[in-house]
Amino acid sequence: MFRGTFAVVNLQAITNNVRTIKGLLRPSTKLLVAVKADGYGHGAVPAATAALAGGADALGVASLEEGLQIRTAGIEVPILVFGRVSASGLPIAAEYDISVTLTSDWRNEQIPRRSKAVKVHLKLDTGMSRLGYTDAEEAADIAKWVMSREDMNLVGVYSHLACADAPDDTHLKGQVGRFEQALRILAQHGVRPRLVHLANSAGTLRNPDLHYDMVRVGVSAYGYPPSPDFTLSVHLQPALSLYARIQRLAVIDVGQTVGYGATFTATRRTRVATIPIGYADGYFRILSNRSEVWVNGFYAPVIGNVCMDQLMIDVTDIPEVKPLDWVTVYGQAVPQIWNQVDFSSQPDAVRTEFVLETFTETAAESPVVSLDRLAKQAGTISYELMCAISPRIPKIYFEG
Ligand SMILES: Cc1ncc(COP(=O)(O)O)c(C=O)c1O
Repeated sequence: MFRGTFAVVNLQAITNNVRTIKGLLRPSTKLLVAVKADGYGHGAVPAATAALAGGADALGVASLEEGLQIRTAGIEVPILVFGRVSASGLPIAAEYDISVTLTSDWRNEQIPRRSKAVKVHLKLDTGMSRLGYTDAEEAADIAKWVMSREDMNLVGVYSHLACADAPDDTHLKGQVGRFEQALRILAQHGVRPRLVHLANSAGTLRNPDLHYDMVRVGVSAYGYPPSPDFTLSVHLQPALSLYARIQRLAVIDVGQTVGYGATFTATRRTRVATIPIGYADGYFRILSNRSEVWVNGFYAPVIGNVCMDQLMIDVTDIPEVKPLDWVTVYGQAVPQIWNQVDFSSQPDAVRTEFVLETFTETAAESPVVSLDRLAKQAGTISYELMCAISPRIPKIYFEG
């Protein structure tokens, strides 16, 4: 906190978003919330806890290691690893009751002996061309091998959608068709796992026909649409807000330059503010000279190249900017009172209480500085910016 850069994570927003999504499902449909990549940058364990409070039935992670982090934090719900776990990891998965994805054969690997059976979800590739079996007969063959083993328990079959957020549903329909066809072939071979699942956030929000026995949502639980133009039928609340504090204010003359490589040259007398966030924090360098941050109710352009730990902004046109004022990088705009009371010099607990109290009090009237807008400026998607947040940014959590 001494640096003047931090994030506030509203865990209640995650809980509310999950509850809202759960409300779209049939009572029998399970809801898995993806907490991979450190909970999309929000913190895996706090995000998981918040999601469970909102009615999540299961959690999704990318690796066995991520699953172990959740399990050893004392969380007991089903956890599914989306990525491939090598055969050597199966005893650990079994011991910690973490389900694994069968995406390619384990038969050509040494499978260690174990006492408990590992839960397995068979992955089908229906058009993503990333993981899983494309050929349903081959999938049936491996599924029967899994079913024949005492140390494996086939509990699910699933696939992943590539274009469920796109207005044109041609690709989506193709994937659904191939999924249905594969399910029929598996059933003909006697393979009928208990949990059939397909939909990510986009699929879940788009069409109840895609819900099957379980849905797997990530980005929507954190309060964002799967893509900026996706029409949301429900209200979602972004959970994370990112702030940094002006370290220095200076005026440069016409012709002076800003930052490494001198990529910005002043064409007027320019007030330059320096803020302590850079590409090592997850504010990508590609955003140099092309993004904005929110200062006292206005967007201020980022000028010059983003540095590793800092960036510079043009605040010439923004009234009443002072050194140590707070800047909103994205999320709920800074409460004005933060610029009037020096809470950063308070002891930890007092400071945190002040931040949370004032943040909550002003939530209703504060504008939200769009992460989707920043993502567009970076030529990427909200997902990438969220999970790029560096561990060195302190997070203040609250359940408002
Ligand atoms: C297999 C799988 N299922 C579900 C999700 C959640 O996707 P989203 O964040 O778009 O809801 C992901 C995320 O990439 C995934 O890889």
